[in-house]
Amino acid sequence: MCGIIGAVAESAIKPVLAGLGKLEYRGYDSSGISVLSNNEIQTIKAQGQLNNLKQRLSMQDIDGDCCIGHTRWATHGRASVTNAHPHQCGQVSVVHNGIIENYLPIKQQLIQWGHHFHSSTDSEVVPHLINHYLSQQMTQEEAIEKTIAQLKGSYALGILINGVNSNLYAIKQDSPLVISQGNNGAYMASDAMALGSDSEKIYYPKDNELIKLNSNEIKFCNKSLNKKIHFINNSNASELVSKGEHSSYMEKEIFEQVDLLNRLASDQQANKYSTIDFKALNKITIIACGTSFYAASVAKFWFEKYANISVEIDIASEYRYRSPIIMKNELAIFVSQSGETADTLAALRYAKDKNAQTLALVNVANSTIAREASFTFEIFAGPEIGVASTKAFSCQLAIFHKLCIEAATQRAFIKSAEIKQLTLNFKQCSILVEKVLQHSTQMQALAVNLSKYANALFLGRGILTPIAHEGALKLKEISYIHAEAYAAGELKHGPIALLDEKMPVLVIAPKNELTDKLLSNIQEVKARKAPLFIIGDASIKEHIDLQEDQFFELPAIPESILPIISVIPMQLLALYCAKALGKNVDQPRNLAKSVTVE
Ligand code: F6R
Repeated sequence: MCGIIGAVAESAIKPVLAGLGKLEYRGYDSSGISVLSNNEIQTIKAQGQLNNLKQRLSMQDIDGDCCIGHTRWATHGRASVTNAHPHQCGQVSVVHNGIIENYLPIKQQLIQWGHHFHSSTDSEVVPHLINHYLSQQMTQEEAIEKTIAQLKGSYALGILINGVNSNLYAIKQDSPLVISQGNNGAYMASDAMALGSDSEKIYYPKDNELIKLNSNEIKFCNKSLNKKIHFINNSNASELVSKGEHSSYMEKEIFEQVDLLNRLASDQQANKYSTIDFKALNKITIIACGTSFYAASVAKFWFEKYANISVEIDIASEYRYRSPIIMKNELAIFVSQSGETADTLAALRYAKDKNAQTLALVNVANSTIAREASFTFEIFAGPEIGVASTKAFSCQLAIFHKLCIEAATQRAFIKSAEIKQLTLNFKQCSILVEKVLQHSTQMQALAVNLSKYANALFLGRGILTPIAHEGALKLKEISYIHAEAYAAGELKHGPIALLDEKMPVLVIAPKNELTDKLLSNIQEVKARKAPLFIIGDASIKEHIDLQEDQFFELPAIPESILPIISVIPMQLLALYCAKALGKNVDQPRNLAKSVTVE
């Protein structure tokens, strides 16, 4: 959460503001910058979205050649200008992403030493502590190192110090950070796509490497690190970030799924998945959070049905607190779009400590989870900016489907003709997603109807139960309509008590072996006068009378790829409901894209 950026360049505010725009997915409760201008640090902050900061800056005539910036997702202290970063103490200004767990005793000590605090944040102790050590005649590097040695928790810090020599420093512990050497400047940021557009060479610092950036060089300055920084080429992630012709990133990302699934289906490098010895496994555990957890839940059905491997699924924030038993021939798979989710990372480290074989499925190739797992496969969704995950979900499913075909092949549990059929089915994904998207206007009518209600229940059966959960999560995230999902058979065991004219029920009802059972569940809903919404096969309409704005027709879909196709109307539904209610679909309240705190 929170995005940090720093630049040493001519007119440094410009690349910092451009970078903050690309980091806003990490939080948008407030933003701020500190710039070194005429040998003075000037700090400007604003509550709310970045545009508010830009407006404030447009009224002032400042610039400089060293600047740090921050976009905040509030943890300690409410969203306000006072709590916005950067935090400054004397000639030290700091932007921070992460949590300083022991900030209270440090703050108390600093207050005793005569320091005054303005914010309720944990971060403000950092510039105060550095300032304290500078006042004891330490060098800038010594003051930072002494401060860092006292901090507990996770952090990525951008530190601007004004002095005889003014410098920008970067350092991290368990939080994402990347440094770049550009043609026109030197940069640091939480995410490579926010770096200056001239950044050809990048470097991902390791924990506690203190790096100094100035106009001449970028170098390590820990006393113990007597080596040069080894930069790697930047694939220029920043160019991939634009809305194109769409009104929101989320809409663009939903429509991008046609091409992405087509590309994944024609990727011939299936042999990379054979590095996993599925034959030797007797159990798989899949660990993830949120949407990635629902992808894991679908994968469980596939691995068990087609490869006969027992699969356990776990929510990452729970995994390491329940004494999981890790078996000898077990593979622990960690699914994370960002590759930085704190709970998933902690679960990965726990599993590694217990000697589990680990595999990461990530969208961000150089992320911490990708770097730390024994095996890593990318999902190739490209940068996902909309906070509510869409294309990353379908790409996670696509890679799981491919892995499952590999597992089925190695374990020969199903016949080779069936395996061939699975591959052929997968190749149809792109065309079927396109078919669904061609009827998006039909979903708009349904969404406008559903958006009148304050609550909704989502029902699915079998492999579509996780899709019902994912649909409910999408809806509540961006429209703020309260939505819960159930396996349809569970309805009569409790939730049915909620049904009346004000509780709409949305059912995913494709044509498959469970359709008849689902029809009985639908009748139970109808009998309680709950408004019905169905995303399903055309044949459903022969049994139930539905208006245009209550039904979205699914094309005929092969069983194995049902989840990949059925989630698309769910994404559209959430998008159009949120739009009908006038919500900001890309930046829903209280959320952030990369959840780097536990
Ligand atoms: C929902 C959503 C979240 C994430 C979750 C895990 O739309 O995006 O539920 O799926 O925070 O994030 P990653 O996949 O980055 O670990």
